[in-house]
Amino acid sequence: MFVSFEGVDGSGKSTQAQLLREWLEGLGRGVVACREPGGTALGERIRDLLLAGAAMAPWAEAALFAAARAELVAEVIRPALARGEHVVCDRYVDSSLAYQGVARGLGVERVLQLNLIATEALLPDRTFLLLIDPVEARRRAGAEGDRIEREGSAFQHAVDRGYRDLADRFRERVVAVDAARAPGAIASIVRGELRDLA
Ligand code: ADP
Ligand code: TYD
Repeated sequence: MFVSFEGVDGSGKSTQAQLLREWLEGLGRGVVACREPGGTALGERIRDLLLAGAAMAPWAEAALFAAARAELVAEVIRPALARGEHVVCDRYVDSSLAYQGVARGLGVERVLQLNLIATEALLPDRTFLLLIDPVEARRRAGAEGDRIEREGSAFQHAVDRGYRDLADRFRERVVAVDAARAPGAIASIVRGELRDLA
């Protein structure tokens, strides 16, 4: 199965991705974990351009995220799924829908089309959306953050609204979870949702 975690920075995605990975490995399953943007040699270079570099046109940003994702799908995710391993991804297409589609104003539908082309229509079996007040998430995340995290609170609130709309729109795939709960409580909800797939 292919699982992704989504949410604003500091919502607890990396923590949950790690806990899920440990649980699956404990069941004796092969697991490939990845993070976006990055996870390949090309993807890490694109990550530097996106997060450390200067401002860029919104469609340049969306296209670079999609390029990093295309490489990750081709080089890492599809081969792992073909080997029968599980893939756990910290961010995937929904990040682009919420950040570029909604917060940058490019439109969810158009950013989705770009990403369906880039990934050859590979979507996760389940996506866990970690919902938390963006102010609390900011506090958890601590330090200053990257270029996109520094966009300010109106932008982060737009991302949060975007994510909530995605949960409504993709009800079959996206499971919204209250990320204010303790990590162990969230992890057991995740495991419960995946029991049939794992
Ligand atoms: P993300 O990957 O979404 O940016 P992290 O998993 O790195 O988030 O978590 C951000 C911070 O919040 C870390 O210090 C982490 O230990 C803490 N944290 C993660 N999950 C929770 C939780 N459910 N409750 C409280 N703190 C959490
Ligand atoms: P982030 O998860 O913060 O990486 P890390 O925790 O390793 O620093 O992701 C980097 C930033 O990129 C984050 O602010 C969200 C943003 N982002 C997008 O705007 N669109 C995307 O498609 C992705 C994957 C990330």
